[in-house]
Amino acid sequence: MDRVRVELGERSYDIFIGAGLLSQAAPHLKAAGVGNRGVIITDSNVAPLYAGKLQEVLRGGGFAAEIVTVPAGESSKSMRQVNRLIDRLPALGLDRKSFVIALGGGVVGDLAGFVAGIYLRGLAFVQMPTSLLAQVDSSVGGKTGVNLPQGKNLVGVFYQPRLVLADTGLLASLPDRELRSGYAEVIKHGAIYDAEFFNWLERAEKPAQDLVHVVRRCCEIKGDVVGKDERESGLRAILNFGHTIGHAMEALSDYVGLLHGEAISIGMCCAAELSVRRGGLSRPEADRIRASLAATGLPTKIGDRFNMSDLRAAMQLDKKNVAGKQRFVLLKRLGEAFVSDAVTDRDVEEVINVCR
Ligand SMILES: NC(=O)c1ccc[n+]([C@@H]2O[C@H](COP(=O)([O-])OP(=O)(O)OC[C@H]3O[C@@H](n4cnc5c(N)ncnc54)[C@H](O)[C@@H]3O)[C@@H](O)[C@H]2O)c1
Repeated sequence: MDRVRVELGERSYDIFIGAGLLSQAAPHLKAAGVGNRGVIITDSNVAPLYAGKLQEVLRGGGFAAEIVTVPAGESSKSMRQVNRLIDRLPALGLDRKSFVIALGGGVVGDLAGFVAGIYLRGLAFVQMPTSLLAQVDSSVGGKTGVNLPQGKNLVGVFYQPRLVLADTGLLASLPDRELRSGYAEVIKHGAIYDAEFFNWLERAEKPAQDLVHVVRRCCEIKGDVVGKDERESGLRAILNFGHTIGHAMEALSDYVGLLHGEAISIGMCCAAELSVRRGGLSRPEADRIRASLAATGLPTKIGDRFNMSDLRAAMQLDKKNVAGKQRFVLLKRLGEAFVSDAVTDRDVEEVINVCR
């Protein structure tokens, strides 16, 4: 079992990574000092696979946890589901020592984390990510929240988990397309922060077999970035590489037909093109990013699905924008990212056309 520590003063926490961690959840919860009553929030795909087992394991360790299930899919990241969950909680007899476990992918993690953050002004939150994307990215760093019809993640709070248990054994049941989608965020971590990791990923089978190494390195990178800038006043924004255009495409597609990692993959190809124009990235490096994503089976082209004016309008809601000025995460070189406001409307339109 591997351990990565996220250093955030009194909000510091451990991420444990390894196969079989679900069965050891009780001692980890005890060590994290949570109360003995809580709720497991999960989705309709993960519930039949793992929720009952987790409930049993916890019961054996002296914890009582009810299971609450939301429909699988991005559409559950909504205020409707927040209200539904919050309506259920008073009947469960939770108090301020109680815990909320998010057992699922990034959708469940973002939704359950938001509910944990606002119910009774905050319950102990435990992330048990079950998708690759959630293990390498969304379960770490405390960004929680839901979507509005107008855009992704427009409502939410920063709320750090008390503990993250990433059981890599659970990835065995993840559909192949979801595994590849999660891999987009893996490649992102290498591209923005660690050229050596990017090179390793480039050489490895895709997706790489050694998922413990992949999850650990991504958690180290994300933990390091979040430890330096918890609330995204600077450095943390680099984690949004590829997300400006990616989020716009997700919002325009009503979160249907395009997985988050797939949208980010296309978004990263666009951001790499912008980086060649405005960031300093070399043409061969941009080509390597696209090739690595393509070799993973991820989409790299926008296609004809979205028209220019809709994309531009959706991008206006990006949370990185300041005073109406569009900001992009660009690469200086592989492994080094920065936030730029030098990208012009013309750059964006040319790049969208190049990436069609
Ligand atoms: N908070 C953050 O910092 C952050 C970072 C990146 C992404 N996100 C968010 O994460 C979400 C995407 O996460 P995701 O890709 O995990 O999507 P998801 O939660 O929808 O999970 C993907 C699919 O896989 C299923 N699944 C999950 N684990 C499984 C398992 N072990 N076996 C079988 N099926 C399983 C789910 O039911 C779902 O159908 C997006 O909403 C995105 O905005 C958040």
